[in-house]
Amino acid sequence: VTDLKAELLGVALEAAHRAGAFLRDGRPDDLGVAATKTSAVDVVTEMDIASEKLITDFFAERRPADGVLGEEGASSEGSSGVQWVIDPIDGTVNYLYGRPDWSVSIAARKDGETLVGVVHAPMRGETYRAVLGEGAFVNDKPAHTRPAPPFEQALVGTGFGYVAQRRAQQAEVARQLIPLVRDIRRGGSAAIDLCDVALGRLDAYYERGLNPWDFAAGDLVAREAGALTGGRPGEALTGELAIAAPPGLFEDLQGRLEELGAWHD
Ligand code: IPD
Repeated sequence: VTDLKAELLGVALEAAHRAGAFLRDGRPDDLGVAATKTSAVDVVTEMDIASEKLITDFFAERRPADGVLGEEGASSEGSSGVQWVIDPIDGTVNYLYGRPDWSVSIAARKDGETLVGVVHAPMRGETYRAVLGEGAFVNDKPAHTRPAPPFEQALVGTGFGYVAQRRAQQAEVARQLIPLVRDIRRGGSAAIDLCDVALGRLDAYYERGLNPWDFAAGDLVAREAGALTGGRPGEALTGELAIAAPPGLFEDLQGRLEELGAWHD
């Protein structure tokens, strides 16, 4: 199994770096100023699709028996039991505006477990990676969460999904949370937010309504760096609700979110 994990990590890192270089070097310079035009959105959509194709073509060449699940529609079971979960650009709106926090997120799952997670953030010059049971790293340095602060001193990241009806409810939860914590951040890439918890650049993170490709890799990085991750009390992290924080703060945040009705419409 260890050999498998090492191989998966190598392939994931290479795929993420190839896609990251393609996206960084291929982004038209004027995309930010043209951001209100439909054409700019189309360019980003094309880059997203091309990035996913680059990654899935690479997996087809290196690990042809594996399955894939990608944001842009890649979906196959494969026969090896390994499935790659791919977000070709996480933080698309940041990418569109020339904001640096976008990433390529790649995870490998087998038998319902994430074995490897890689989040590559080209404009940060950083790659976050984790192998199940073997710790988390930023580039080649071990990554660790910050010790849990008292709740009122926590810097908490969150995000707002793109489903219109949910955004008002998410804003309401954030409105009630702001006076209770140090501050709130909305970074724009869920994968990077989870890695920021792993690095101690955020104390905690929560979001409702993610997709597997947004969180699969970052979830493992956060856990391997010492964070607890989950959803509602007693439940695993899912797309429905994602919470990540070091022990102590995790339970506090989960409890507060329950009080604030974070998962009720
Ligand atoms: C989005 C980002 C964002 C989060 C959204 C996601 P995308 O992913 O992760 O931070 O708030 O819920 O959909 O669309 O840029 O891949």
